[in-house]
Amino acid sequence: MSHADDHAGTRRDFLYYATAGAGAVAAGAAGWTLVNQMNPSADVQALSSIYVDISGVEQGTQLTVKWRGKPVFIRRRTQEEIDAARGVALDELIDPSAENANKPGADASDENRTLDEAGEWLVMMGVCTHLGCVPLGNGAGEFGGWFCPCHGSHYDTAGRIRKGPAPRNLDVPIAQFTDETTILLG
Ligand code: FES
Repeated sequence: MSHADDHAGTRRDFLYYATAGAGAVAAGAAGWTLVNQMNPSADVQALSSIYVDISGVEQGTQLTVKWRGKPVFIRRRTQEEIDAARGVALDELIDPSAENANKPGADASDENRTLDEAGEWLVMMGVCTHLGCVPLGNGAGEFGGWFCPCHGSHYDTAGRIRKGPAPRNLDVPIAQFTDETTILLG
């Protein structure tokens, strides 16, 4: 496959995703009928992997996308956030595992949580590991990362649980860069 073909595929899949999201809200019952008539395996397959265009994500902000019915946080961290996460000793952590599907069995060091080596990009399921609420982001909580207000779980700038009832770090899903501005989930 040529690079041009590859790029076309990326655009098409991303547009499919964007359209699917808008349709789910706008089409209502009519859309649901249509979905029910589709071949379920084709439908599931189409949604099992999505391309996300991250070209518009500024440092210090987070993009939230819906994937497999759940929110995924894609954060472009500041150097301050990276330094804060990398300055934490492993024995201070509640959950010693990276919880990163791309690195099974790895420890919870910041380097094992991020998508790139420099640590700018952090991709995580936006689902609290306590009871499944969606944590608040953008520096929320006592550790400057995410905060789940339902029972008070605090996550740090690497999405690691630091205080509260949640037992595990926020899960990092299967993800990779397909080019400089595109992340493939799944
Ligand atoms: S679901 Fe997050 S603290 Fe309860």
